[in-house]
Amino acid sequence: TDYAFPALDSFPPLRNTALLDSANGTPPTALRTPPPIWIMRQAGRYLPEFQQVRRDHSFFTVCRTPELACEVTLQPIRRFDGLLDASIIFSDILVVPQAMGLDVQMLGGVGPHFPQPLADPADAQNRILDRKTDVFDELKYVYAAITKTRHGLEGKVPLIGFCAGPWTLFGYMVEGGGSKTWEKAKSWTYKHPDSAKALLHRIAQVSAEYLAHQVQAGAQLLQVFDTNADCLTPHGFDTFILPYLALLPKLVRARLAALDVPCPPMTVFAKGATLPAQLSALASLGYQTVGLDWTVTARYAREHTRATGVALQGNLDPSVLLGSRDAIKREVRTLTWGPDGFLTCAAEGVPGGWIVNLGHGITPGVDPEDARYFLERVRRECAKKSRD
Ligand code: CP3
Repeated sequence: TDYAFPALDSFPPLRNTALLDSANGTPPTALRTPPPIWIMRQAGRYLPEFQQVRRDHSFFTVCRTPELACEVTLQPIRRFDGLLDASIIFSDILVVPQAMGLDVQMLGGVGPHFPQPLADPADAQNRILDRKTDVFDELKYVYAAITKTRHGLEGKVPLIGFCAGPWTLFGYMVEGGGSKTWEKAKSWTYKHPDSAKALLHRIAQVSAEYLAHQVQAGAQLLQVFDTNADCLTPHGFDTFILPYLALLPKLVRARLAALDVPCPPMTVFAKGATLPAQLSALASLGYQTVGLDWTVTARYAREHTRATGVALQGNLDPSVLLGSRDAIKREVRTLTWGPDGFLTCAAEGVPGGWIVNLGHGITPGVDPEDARYFLERVRRECAKKSRD
């Protein structure tokens, strides 16, 4: 199939700029303008309309078919009409290892499966480092889905593009699937640190090219998901995670500048990287927003990112959505107007934008109407100007 990048002024004009305003650091504002809201994994198995599409098409078929990826991306926007301020393109982080030549399957009830994970440095040299990846050709189905979805959204809300953090992809490529301990990936860093660094560097280069292409296709904000940032030591984090997260915005910016395309705001979500030094390091990598998991308060995160003025994204515990309406109401209150909540800090004059989200993806067991209740409760609390 043919695909060419569109002229970026050919899309319907954006009518809801809340997300981009927050990410671009429009002042504290949580109190003056309502913060934007979206939900990580908002298109997914908790929606019956998604399950319906999945009955007829495999997971990667949905990813690879622009009409289906567009349809599924729009499902939560339609269902929660007016309550969501962003869409995120339906795809997966594992399309990048596929583009690099690895076979990846999605097994029902199991998750991702690589029949032939990387075995050792020689194997990685042969199958990854000595090979070239055509990032345009291998992933143009994603670019086509993004372009189609930008039209389908009709300017209602912006479209987020994404990729994984290099460490998270390295983990899957070496383990061959999800893991509790990630011990193959971790032992590789101890036994073969130079090989690990070469692989992480290559993954970052490919990912940066992929992100830049997503912008050329129409993505309006980019999020990097480093879901496995919680499994290394602090020193391991500094050695195998941080430098490669730093490389992404640098390379994306350089690529887009060369094309004369403006670089959109970027978000880094490094789950589990919540030590004070880790948060302040993440805040100074060149991303406009730092995503938070649910283990920290807004006050704590503001304290450790203050010097940089980044926006924060998060961070309701996704399990709250499984905990009854009462719990949702209570926990949203804590998130917003609790003693260490986002709005309490804003009311005290602590600067920085806020993008409301969960602290990780929404889980398949959530009743979509409970997700709606979450969105409504956030809007209700955000309409108040002080703790009452
Ligand atoms: O709505 C959105 O957020 C966009 C879609 C999206 C998916 N995966 C769809 C998906 C996004 C942003 C991802 C990112 C992703 N994929 C991450 C990082 C974010 C996170 O949640 O940690 C990771 C680690 C993956 C890898 C992955 N893909 C796993 C571990 C699994 C299986 C686990 C599970 O939840 O079942 C997937 C499959 C996957 N990706 C599904 C969806 C909707 C479910 C598969 C299905 O439909 O059968």
